[in-house]
Amino acid sequence: MSSSDYVLGQSERAARRLALQDRHFAVPSEALLDALAIQPNDRVVELGCGPGGFTRRILNRLGANGVVVGVDSSASLLEQAKDSLAQLGGTRFKPTLADVAKPGAWLDGADVIAGRAVLHHVPMAEFLIGRLRATLRPGTRIGFLEPDFRRPLGCLALQEVNHPELAPLLRFARSINELYAAWRISPAVGASLAPTMEDAGYTNVRHTWHPFATDESVLENMSLIYDEVRDTFASLGIITVAEIEEQRRLLSELPVGDLPAVWGLHQVTAVA
Ligand SMILES: C[S@@+](CC[C@H](N)C(=O)[O-])C[C@H]1O[C@@H](n2cnc3c(N)ncnc32)[C@H](O)[C@@H]1O
Repeated sequence: MSSSDYVLGQSERAARRLALQDRHFAVPSEALLDALAIQPNDRVVELGCGPGGFTRRILNRLGANGVVVGVDSSASLLEQAKDSLAQLGGTRFKPTLADVAKPGAWLDGADVIAGRAVLHHVPMAEFLIGRLRATLRPGTRIGFLEPDFRRPLGCLALQEVNHPELAPLLRFARSINELYAAWRISPAVGASLAPTMEDAGYTNVRHTWHPFATDESVLENMSLIYDEVRDTFASLGIITVAEIEEQRRLLSELPVGDLPAVWGLHQVTAVA
C-alpha cells in the first residue's frame, strides 16, 4: 500500500478518530507494553505509528536514553505525530517515512518491535512476519495489537436471532470486513498471528483477546468510520450512501448498556 492510499484516511479528522480510538485502546495498549517489558533505554521501532497515540504511551515508558523510531508511509500523519510529540519526545522520537512491508535500515539496533492496528493494513502481513524474523537480532521482543471484526460475528449472529435490533452491529462488521477484503489487506491477521509467529520460529509466543464493550464511544467510532469512508464504501458497492445514513441513525438509537462486542483487539507478543 502506498502512502497515498491508507484505507481509513489521513486527514486531520481521521487523526481525531484515531485519538478517540486511542481511548478505547488504552487498556490493551498498556497491557501490550507490560508484556513487552519495555526498559528505559530500549530502542523501540514502532510500525505504522500514525499520528502518535501509541507512540506517546511508549515514550512514557522510556527514560532519557530510550528511543522510538516511528515508521509510517503517510507523511501527513508522521507530521502530526512530530507536532504532537515534540514536547514529550524531543530527539527521542525519530519519525521515519517508509513502507513497513519492506524491512529496511530503520530496524537496525532495535530492542523491541511494536505495532498497533497496522498489520491488517499490510497485504499478506504473514510474509512480513517471516521477513522480520529473518532480519531481527535474536532476542528482539516483538508485539502487536490487531483488531478483528470477524470473531465477534459468531456471537452477534447468534444473538440477533432473538434481538433483531442488533442488525446494525452486524451490518457494520460485515461492511468493514468487505472493505478490507476489497483492498486485499489482512482483516483477520490478528486471529492467526500467534500460530503464524510460532511457525516462523519466534519463541515465547503469547496471545490475549481484548473484546470491546459496545459503549457510546465505540458506537461513535463506528459512525465516524462510516462517515470517513462513505464514498469508498459506495464506489466499491459495499453499502450505499443512503444506507450508510440509515445505519448511522440505527446505531445512534441502540440502547447502550448490554450490547455485545462488535470488535476487539488481539494482543500477540513473542521473541525473535
Ligand atoms: C489504523 S492506523 C493506526 C495508527 C497508530 N498505530 C495508532 O494505533 O494510533 C494505521 C497506520 O498504519 C500506517 N500504515 C498502513 N500501511 C502501512 C505500510 N505499509 N507502511 C507504513 N505504514 C503503514 C497508516 O499510514 C496509519 O498511520
